[in-house]
Amino acid sequence: MTSALFSPIQIGKLELANRIVVSPMCQYSANDGSASDWHLTHLGMLANCGAGLVVVEATHVERHGRITHGCLGLYSDANETTLHRVIDHCRSIGNSKFGIQLAHAGRKASSQRPWEGGQALKPGDDPWETIAPSAIPFGPGWHMPRAMTREDMIRVRDAFVAAARRAVRIGFDAIELHMAHGYLIHSFISPISNKRNDEYGGPGDARMRFPLEIAEAVREVVPPGTPLGARITGSDWLEGGLDVDDAVALARALKQAGFDFVCVSSGGLASDVRNPTTPGYNAPLAEKVRREAGITARTVGLIASPKQAEALVAEGKADLIALARAMLDNPHWGWQAALELGADVARPPQYQRAAPKLWPGAAYRV
Ligand SMILES: Cc1cc2nc3c(=O)[nH]c(=O)nc-3n(C[C@H](O)[C@H](O)[C@H](O)COP(=O)(O)O)c2cc1C
Repeated sequence: MTSALFSPIQIGKLELANRIVVSPMCQYSANDGSASDWHLTHLGMLANCGAGLVVVEATHVERHGRITHGCLGLYSDANETTLHRVIDHCRSIGNSKFGIQLAHAGRKASSQRPWEGGQALKPGDDPWETIAPSAIPFGPGWHMPRAMTREDMIRVRDAFVAAARRAVRIGFDAIELHMAHGYLIHSFISPISNKRNDEYGGPGDARMRFPLEIAEAVREVVPPGTPLGARITGSDWLEGGLDVDDAVALARALKQAGFDFVCVSSGGLASDVRNPTTPGYNAPLAEKVRREAGITARTVGLIASPKQAEALVAEGKADLIALARAMLDNPHWGWQAALELGADVARPPQYQRAAPKLWPGAAYRV
């Protein structure tokens, strides 16, 4: 049996062994943006999960762009040095390639870690001023953001560029910008959070202007051949919000700006948004974006079984399959999927005495 999920794919100059991607997942375990021993262990573990690509969590381009006090950043030399060490470590022990997601939290910044409540930071918890396209909070009880000035926009754009340069120096195999889940860039694109009356608000093209200024500036400093992509919104799941046609328009514009791929996610724009709970709920959105924008597309969202992931690739709904919670639950997900789908996965020599002996008929490679 030939598996579509385990077929290789080339994006730019990057060759991935298979279509499995570990979705970016905040760990809230950094110190002033710098990676900790948790990252060494967590990402080191995922380096051997069988995925072609592991995407490092939302990594914030300025200190006040972090979601929480524990979020990862790439805004200082210390941030760069500590993350470099983690990625060097992952490369030396594992088989996956590594990407990074660059982000700015916008009006969702200055929050508590999920296990501390996940709400806006309280007055005694060292909160900070948040920024957004318009002075509209994420929800009741959330900080009132300051509407960004042109100076803020230039600073944030330059911070994305500086962080992208740092990511290139670290040697990431791919870079993606976070344009979804209600964070700063998404909040510019959605008509629900962007009520500006300058050239950065109003019709769809104007709401995409700042995101595309960032995209173009980042593309200039990421070497040609290094895949650059974005996580975008396939639906706000809100009346009057973004829908899949907006995602197609954004994907087309990003492609025009030299972007290589998109990950079509959804939701997260406001505190009362509830995403669908059906397995693979974002896949129809990714399929339409992939087909109509003609760009490499990743899907994500409630994909947990190897057969489900295999079908999504085999049926042409997506080129890449991202998994988040399933990978935390089972960090050898890719190994198990290979066994189930009769495919091949690279394993470290230290573990050679496990699966090949347990499952002698399997196609495992070491
Ligand atoms: C612990 C955790 C942290 C997350 N952090 C991020 C993040 O940093 N960036 C992002 O785009 N999505 C983040 N997400 C969303 C996931 O990447 C993914 O889109 C979502 O969980 C749906 O996929 P799943 O059903 O496979 O978990 C996070 C999800 C979890 C569970």
